[in-house]
Amino acid sequence: MKYLFANWKMYLDYDESNILANALANEHKKIPESVKVAVFPSALSLYPVAQVLNDVGIGVGERRHQFHETNHEVRQKLEAALTVGLIPVLCVGETLKEREENKTEEVIEVQLRAAFENLSWPVGRELIVAYEPVWAISKGMGASDVGLPCDEIEAERIHILIAKMVKGILPEVDPVVLFGGSVRKETVAGYLSQPHIHGVLVGAASTRLDSWLEIMASAIN
Ligand code: PGA
Repeated sequence: MKYLFANWKMYLDYDESNILANALANEHKKIPESVKVAVFPSALSLYPVAQVLNDVGIGVGERRHQFHETNHEVRQKLEAALTVGLIPVLCVGETLKEREENKTEEVIEVQLRAAFENLSWPVGRELIVAYEPVWAISKGMGASDVGLPCDEIEAERIHILIAKMVKGILPEVDPVVLFGGSVRKETVAGYLSQPHIHGVLVGAASTRLDSWLEIMASAIN
């Protein structure tokens, strides 16, 4: 199974979100069974977007973002999401400063422990973590807004680490680990060719129909 998640963040307003959701619904037949597509719209457009997309088998979700929230707040949201039956997507990742100080592994371990330690994970519920190095995330929607490059070899290395750490905390769960950080049509296939990168969480490039369809096409082929 490959995961292609579109993270619209606050890029699209209510009308734009609905227009894009309808356009995606029209394209849903191109999505093979082996690919799971989900959209993360702004909270305001969550309901109408879910109404359009749930009918055609495209998931709609609420992302749990690690940045700007304390690990404790993230943990509380995670527990709340589990209680109401949602599949949370937990984002972890280090800042550039932390990477430069060789703290990447340590920071990610603290984030994962805060989220999952002593949690009884519901049987059969997917556990999805997105590795989003803060320095690699796009700064906006423009072509020049890409973050610093995190190549697929380095991303794979961290994904292996994340899978191992989650297994260490919750041995009964097999985590799904996605990569997020300026994924574009030119780079998506490279990430997905790595055995421990189960999918991608795409921000800026998922907010326009043409670029998202191109990403889906290169991921599927
Ligand atoms: P980006 O966003 O693809 O715009 O870098 C990734 C994310 O924050 O999910």
